Amino acid sequence: MPRCPRPAYARRGWRRARGGGCGPRNAAGAGPRGPASGRRKNARPDRAWARRCPLGTLLARLRHRINGPRAVTQGITTDFSRKMSYGDYLKLDQLLGAQEPLSGEHDEMLFICIHHVQEIWLKLLNHELELAMRCIREDQLRPAFKAMARAGRIQGQLIGAWDVLATMTPHDYLAFRDKLGSSSGFQSWQYRLLEFRLGAKDEFMLKPHAHRPDLLGVLEKAMAEPSIYDETLRLLARRGLPVPAEVLERDLTKPHQENEAVTAIWTGIYEGAEEGFDLYELAEELVDLEDAFQTWRFRHMRTVERIIGYRMGTGGSAGVAYLRQALERRFFPELFEARTRIKQPSV
Ligand code: HEM
Repeated sequence: MPRCPRPAYARRGWRRARGGGCGPRNAAGAGPRGPASGRRKNARPDRAWARRCPLGTLLARLRHRINGPRAVTQGITTDFSRKMSYGDYLKLDQLLGAQEPLSGEHDEMLFICIHHVQEIWLKLLNHELELAMRCIREDQLRPAFKAMARAGRIQGQLIGAWDVLATMTPHDYLAFRDKLGSSSGFQSWQYRLLEFRLGAKDEFMLKPHAHRPDLLGVLEKAMAEPSIYDETLRLLARRGLPVPAEVLERDLTKPHQENEAVTAIWTGIYEGAEEGFDLYELAEELVDLEDAFQTWRFRHMRTVERIIGYRMGTGGSAGVAYLRQALERRFFPELFEARTRIKQPSV
């Protein structure tokens, strides 16, 4: 398994260059403006001095006056018959060919696009969370914070997408709802993977994936592995904090149960933030994660309420009533319980 990446600034050796500029150093160790700096691939040697010398600048202006401005498109690659293009690299034919409405209704495109966009963000969110968990496991909290900060931005995008979907009226949706059959976001395996990684383990959620052994395998693996909170509690134990054995050795396929001793540990971390600032920061990152996840759930529930009212869901649930009870599910209960316990700091 790959290790936590070192921060980019450490990897690339970004330092202030002697010549005054900042940038990656070349093999000879010189900065970007230093004399030994690697020359840009297409830079013309006669232009290099011109950029530095005031006479050169004057000549360039003169040339501009005589010849007119250089066409802005000059040098741009336009022949992709033998080169990889933007669309080739991003497989845009596949990506943009995937939005195939089943009805002739205008708003079905919006419905499909929002789902695709959210699934892509879920993909990246899972990717970042996987990294954060690995870093916590390896006691590398700084790169973990970086991944968690990015996860927070992604969650912002996921939440913002509801604003676009909320422009769809009940009438618009009912026009194509029949075409959806029994399909529902409830069957989103990426969403379940995320929930499992956050600690909401639930065997029932594996059932809709029984017909896809490949996806079932991914979910079963995540179900048996520690969640991000389990990784955090193990880290606290490694730091010598008294996390009870029954918490550390619990059955990982079940959700974590609120524990009094863990609440006491978090209360202590919050009250003595100066001594263990990284743990305090980790606690806040986790709270951000849960907070944004709950906001997404809430916005989903309210968007659904305004579009379908109190009808059943296409997936067969009670609809809004089902989504409302999901809001009660917590990931990191002690982090919220500790907030009630923290003593006022002495001034
Ligand atoms: C008109 C738009 C939407 C409606 C009416 C709707 C409705 C529902 C309903 C009623 C459920 C409960 C399960 C069921 O019976 O189907 C559900 C679950 C779900 N939906 Fe949506 N939804 C919409 C848009 C979206 C979008 C854009 C996403 C993004 C991926 C999404 C993701 C989910 C997920 C992940 C669940 C499972 C939630 C859980 O189990 O806690 N939904 N949806």
